[in-house]
Amino acid sequence: MPSWPLNQWYVAAYSREITDGLLGRTICGEPLVFYRTSDGEVVALADRCVHRRYPLSLSHLKDDQIICGYHGFTYDRTGGCVAAPGQKRIPRTARVPAFEVREVDSLVWVWIGEQDRVDDALLPRAPWLDSPDYTTVRGMEPLQARYGLLVDNLMDLSHETYLHGGYIGTPEVAETPITTEVDEDARVVYVSRHMADAACPPFYARSTGIEGRITRWQDIEYHPPCLYLLHSRIAPVGVEPPADGPDDRAFHVEVVYAITPETEHSTHDFWMVARDFALEDQEVSDFLAENNRTVVLQDVVALDVLEQVVEGEKENYQELSINIDTGGLAARRLLAAMVKDGEEQPAPVTAR
Ligand code: FES
Ligand SMILES: [Fe+2]
Repeated sequence: MPSWPLNQWYVAAYSREITDGLLGRTICGEPLVFYRTSDGEVVALADRCVHRRYPLSLSHLKDDQIICGYHGFTYDRTGGCVAAPGQKRIPRTARVPAFEVREVDSLVWVWIGEQDRVDDALLPRAPWLDSPDYTTVRGMEPLQARYGLLVDNLMDLSHETYLHGGYIGTPEVAETPITTEVDEDARVVYVSRHMADAACPPFYARSTGIEGRITRWQDIEYHPPCLYLLHSRIAPVGVEPPADGPDDRAFHVEVVYAITPETEHSTHDFWMVARDFALEDQEVSDFLAENNRTVVLQDVVALDVLEQVVEGEKENYQELSINIDTGGLAARRLLAAMVKDGEEQPAPVTAR
C-alpha cells in the first residue's frame, strides 16, 4: 500500500525540462517517460516496453513516436503500439499506459492513479512562476528520504534558526509563535508567523538591499500532497500593507516547493523562488539561486540522515510534538485522509 495519495496531481518536471528528447522519471513509484510532441503537447507514458520491458526513456524519439531501443516496437502518444518488427499484425494488447498531463505555471503535472478519475479542479496553482511581474529561480534536488519528512520540514520553519542560521534563519523565527488554520473542505493547511521587528537574514538583506531590521511575514499554504507555497513579505520595520492600493513598499518573495514522491524512500525536491523586485537583476537572481540551493541542501543532508534513523528505529517509536508542530501534524492528518480516499476505489492504472 503506497504512503502517498492516489488519484492526485503531482509535479513531474519543470516545463523547460521537457524539450525535444525523452525524459525518464519515476513519480510515486511509477517509472514514466516524458516527451514533447512537435505541436508542443507533453506526453507521459509508462517507461517500460510491453515486449521485454526495455525502458522507453532509453529509446529513440522520431516523428512524435518512441521506437524502443531494444527491438523496435514503436509507440504513439497514446501509448498504442503502431509497429512491431518482423510482422504486420500488431497484437491488440500491445499498448503502454498513458498518463494525463497538465502544463500550467511552468510546471508539468501528472495524474497518478486511475486515469478516468482525472480532476482538473484538484490542480493547485502557483501563478507567480510564469508571471511577467515576477522573476523566478529554481532547481531540483534528489532527496533520499520519504516525502513525509520533507512535508514535516517545510511546515515548521522554526528549524530555519538552527539548520539555516546565517542564511534564512534568525532568532526571531524560532521565538515567534505561529498560527495554524486548516480548511478541511479545500484541504489546505495555513501556517503563519508574523515578525514585527526582526533581524534581516542575509538571504533578504543582500537581495532587497534593506538595511536594518525588518518586519517579516511568513505565510505558508500547503496543498497536499504536492504543492507548498510560502508567501514571504519583507519590509522595513513599521511598514504595513496599505488599506488599499498595492503593497509596494514591501518586497514579496514566493517560495514554492513541489514535493513529489519518487519511491517510498526518495523524493523529488523541486524548489522555486519568485520575487517581485529587481526583476532584471541577474546578480540578484544568481545570489538567490545559489543561496536557496545551499539552504535546500542543508535540508537534504538533514533529511537523508533522518530517513536512515526512521528506517532503523523500532516499531511504534513515539515522537514528542510541541506547538511548532501544529501545522505539520495537520498536514499529516490530511495526507492520511487523502491516502485513504485514494484507496477506496483501488484499481490498477489504466490506459487512456
Ligand atoms: S523490449 Fe522493446 S521491442 Fe523488445
Ligand atoms: Fe529548511
